[in-house]
Amino acid sequence: MKPRVYVTRLIPEAALKKLADNCDYRIWEGELPVPRDVLLQEVPPVDALLSLLTDKIDGAVMNAASKLRVISNMAVGFDNVDVPEATKRKIMVCNTPAVLTDTTADFAFALLLAAARRVVEGERVVRAGKWKTWGPMILLGQDVHHATLGIIGLGRIGAEVAKRARGFDMKIIYNDSVRRPNLEKTLGVEFRDLRTLLAESDFITVHSPLLPETYHLIGEEQFKLMKKTAILVNSARGPIVDPKALYNALRNGQIAYAALDVTEPEPIPLDDPLLTLENIVIAPHIASASVATRTRMAMMAVDNLLAAIRGERPPHIVNPEVLAK
Ligand code: GLV
Repeated sequence: MKPRVYVTRLIPEAALKKLADNCDYRIWEGELPVPRDVLLQEVPPVDALLSLLTDKIDGAVMNAASKLRVISNMAVGFDNVDVPEATKRKIMVCNTPAVLTDTTADFAFALLLAAARRVVEGERVVRAGKWKTWGPMILLGQDVHHATLGIIGLGRIGAEVAKRARGFDMKIIYNDSVRRPNLEKTLGVEFRDLRTLLAESDFITVHSPLLPETYHLIGEEQFKLMKKTAILVNSARGPIVDPKALYNALRNGQIAYAALDVTEPEPIPLDDPLLTLENIVIAPHIASASVATRTRMAMMAVDNLLAAIRGERPPHIVNPEVLAK
């Protein structure tokens, strides 16, 4: 009998085909995430789950899935999966790092540029019929070139953002839980403690994973340290930035602008006060959303899953301790 798999949303076709060649799979084809009760009904017979960052895969799901051997998450982030609970049950958890690094860094830079030069705000002006003339004082933004960029989290994505920033002749500083001496040399980036980074940066871009230590890492106190002209970009995870503190900082002119690809919660409710502000750009969590990258992510999720159910070491396992005999 072929292994049984549940896929929690439609993913690129090439990946589904590869899955079909090797497994019996069932899939949630809805546009919105699979409802919790459906997920709980689907998992009891499955050997493997191909999940997304919108699915909360916790101990209750694992309890319902007594045969489950692998949770293959189609994302680099895996904060939606309770990894300690999986590890306790010897369930492998896999993710899709590296394939989305450049695409995500491109988008972080797109957000940075959009905020600096008020692109989305300008578009709103045009569509509202408010573009009356060229004006010497209209929609003045901030220069990106030669400004100071503060990168919080100089991992794979943060480092790629640094490369892009070099092309704009930016001065680049970073903060991370560990020093990155090699990158300091190759990318010409300088380490700062978080407070100093916040105070020195014209642009601050977040690329850390969501962990207990990074939850609301940027809050009221941190906004107070930033320049009044500072622009904050978050394409990592929404809860790394305290949304109430962000609203107050943008509203009171404590910082100038924000550009978010991620929010807390997601999707952002239409009555969220952040949506009443002009000095913010919000995208619907699409930093990795290019055709090529989403295909690569789906293929990698399938490859991780297939390796795991064949009893091989998946190429990208986040809890390799479950493999220890
Ligand atoms: C997207 O946010 C991811 O973690 O891949």
